[in-house]
Amino acid sequence: MLAMRAVINAVDFAVPARRMANSEFPASLDTSDEWIRSHTGIGYRHIADPSVASSDLAYEACRKVLEKTATPAGEIDLVIVATATPDFIGFPSVSCIVQDRLGAKNAGAMDLAAGCTGFIYALETARGFVVSGGARKVLVAGADVLSRITNWQDRNTCVLFGDGAGAVLVTADDSPGERGIIRSVLRADGSGSGLLTHPVGGTRTPYVDGKTDPLDNFLQMDGRKVYNFAVKVVSEGIVEMMESNHICAKDIAWIVPHQANVRIIEAAAKRSKIPMEKFFMNIEEYANTSAATIPIALSEMCSKALIKQGDLLLTFGFGAGLTYGGNLIRW
Ligand code: ACO
Repeated sequence: MLAMRAVINAVDFAVPARRMANSEFPASLDTSDEWIRSHTGIGYRHIADPSVASSDLAYEACRKVLEKTATPAGEIDLVIVATATPDFIGFPSVSCIVQDRLGAKNAGAMDLAAGCTGFIYALETARGFVVSGGARKVLVAGADVLSRITNWQDRNTCVLFGDGAGAVLVTADDSPGERGIIRSVLRADGSGSGLLTHPVGGTRTPYVDGKTDPLDNFLQMDGRKVYNFAVKVVSEGIVEMMESNHICAKDIAWIVPHQANVRIIEAAAKRSKIPMEKFFMNIEEYANTSAATIPIALSEMCSKALIKQGDLLLTFGFGAGLTYGGNLIRW
């Protein structure tokens, strides 16, 4: 009997229609298109209307994937949504809302919290379910509406983020062949948990009327420290994944990194001696959409016919937690 593989069958994404250019930040913010582009590579971001939450974007991305693959929602065994900006804190989960809207009546549903590395963690979770026989069809989404928890007066953070979702359908395949999620590396360094936080609303610091500092309702980040962490883990992590799988850069068609800042990727590429052309980048259009950057990138790459069946892809990401990791995928 051939070993069961977890294959990505289709990918799609959804971003809000509202496209905000760097030039639209108010003059009072003391920033500029030139600063944002030269320090981050970001030109635009898509911003959700006040009525739109993460589940709306995740649902849209999942719906498109089901449509593309002509998969009846009733055949889905599990819905996993990676998000750091759920519709509600704790419950109900985004995945349950998505599962219901899709009509995935036979599916389990769970959210996964690993910051911007969420999609990578969720893909590996799906692989585990599929190869162990626990599920045959898994919808995996990364969805975030970071604009909702961003302090729009803080130039150190508000220029960096955008909203969006991406989704894939992972299915069981035991036919001869090599396609599938080959292996993943999932890591964490919780000693850096204070570097990227959303302070208020959890059980540690619940909202207290009249006492809570309104600024604590927004995400807070030590950008410089996160930057240094990211360059280190991306450059070392990619090399480690290649070495442990006995491959080198020329075997890989594309590296699909989490995109928070183009300079992080440029620095990591230089350190790991991998040409920048190997890294797929679209941060200019979407900014950092957190758990959605990788599936959005994969979707754009597919629609531009940049990936062909049999290509070897390596994802690598980092994020709040701190978390990091990657997936090696035979497309
Ligand atoms: N416009 C103009 N000036 C700015 C802006 C802005 N938007 N933002 C910061 N500056 C200023 C700073 O105030 C500082 O001024 P000062 O010297 O007078 O104090 C100056 O620019 C330099 O600041 P640095 O922090 O050194 O700027 P840097 O070049 O490091 O870029 C940035 C800052 C973009 C935040 C960078 O550190 C970064 O990308 N960090 C990583 C962020 C990240 O990856 N976050 C996502 C994590 S994933 C997740 O889970 C959400």
